[in-house]
Amino acid sequence: MRTQVCIIGGGPSGLLLSQLLQRKGIDTVVLERKTKDYVLSRIRAGILETGMVDLMREAGVAERLDKECFVHDGTVISYGDEHFGINFKDLVDRTVVVYGQTEVTRDLYAAREAMDGKIVYNVDGVVIHGADSDAPYVTYTVDGTEHRIDCEFVAGCDGFHGVSRQTIPLTVRREYEKLYPFGWLGILSETPPVHEELIYASSERGFALCSMRNENLSRYYIQCSLSDHPGDWTDAAFWEELKRRIPTEAAEKLVTGPSIEKSIAPLRSFVTEPMRWGRLFLCGDAAHIVPPTGAKGLNTAASDIHYLYHGMVAHYLDGDSEGLDRYSEKALARVWKAERFSWWMTSLLHRFPDQSEFDLKMQQAEIAFLRTNHAAQVAMAENYVGLPY
Ligand code: APR
Ligand code: PHB
Repeated sequence: MRTQVCIIGGGPSGLLLSQLLQRKGIDTVVLERKTKDYVLSRIRAGILETGMVDLMREAGVAERLDKECFVHDGTVISYGDEHFGINFKDLVDRTVVVYGQTEVTRDLYAAREAMDGKIVYNVDGVVIHGADSDAPYVTYTVDGTEHRIDCEFVAGCDGFHGVSRQTIPLTVRREYEKLYPFGWLGILSETPPVHEELIYASSERGFALCSMRNENLSRYYIQCSLSDHPGDWTDAAFWEELKRRIPTEAAEKLVTGPSIEKSIAPLRSFVTEPMRWGRLFLCGDAAHIVPPTGAKGLNTAASDIHYLYHGMVAHYLDGDSEGLDRYSEKALARVWKAERFSWWMTSLLHRFPDQSEFDLKMQQAEIAFLRTNHAAQVAMAENYVGLPY
């Protein structure tokens, strides 16, 4: 097979890039290791920056999002029983959208199918050849049969555990990582959200987050030990612990019910540099991971796609390669800011096993400063709603 851009990975990054490029007449093939249903069975976050929403709109995939999403003007930070609002609308005249990543991916698959987009599922043994040459190609197998795609560029959108990043020689690649000494135990429940905005709760028992998907589908997280397993936590134990970590007022309002999904995610900050090697471009989780506290995972993948999409369009339609030549530099500049914000939110709102009394005082002082200082609130709001591309 031959295509212009071979995209490894059929998650939100790969699908969004494929959709945007095809609408500009640029041919792509997406290679996905799993089935579509498997990809859609992954429960992920649900806060979208304006930049991501605009990209979905430009890709012609915003109809259901516009109909079903929640627009949030702000969020709530709680500390024990105390809580205060960060009103993005007042502070920076911008908002965020609540719309599950699973729904984003579902809409992108529907749009790909509507345009007869080429997606090959259940691929195995993907190998990227000649990324540092002018004639890259990708080989893979499906049901044991070898296949080859010749292409002009490869977009590595295959997540943290994909092959694309590994294709860049270690002599060229530099990786930065921070592992956090705790995880997030998350549940999905068919119950009404406890509050109309998200609550980011810091408590002496650890962090908690109250989020949502729709009027009757809520998403809750509590900080847990990395040695925990979802099976260690009954629903009752989860709800009891959540109530201990959020303000009493919210705990009394909390509607509980059976969890329909329960999982634990480790927290990690990770960046690989560069995000381009020859004809290979890394996007999204293939290049960087953020702890979910700042809701930056999907949104930073979106900014990568924004830079690569515009670089590809300028290359193919105007013969101008500046966008592609500056892709890694531009994408990384925004990635590091998202990494900093996500690290800051995580450091501020979680309890660390080896935390000293002084560290605790620093957290308390930082939260008191955030609660009372306009400039601090503006800085948080600007980062939360999404820094400009
Ligand atoms: N060959 C083909 N496909 C692969 C391979 C491979 N070797 N390895 C992984 N994949 C597929 C995975 O099955 C997955 O569907 O690549 C896709 C990568 O998707 P994601 O991990 O969702 O990464 P991305 O599309 O960049 O989305 C980033 O996902 O994890 C969240 O917080 C993160 O919100 C962010 C978003
Ligand atoms: C979610 O809705 O799953 C969610 C929201 C905000 C975060 C993380 C996760 O920071």
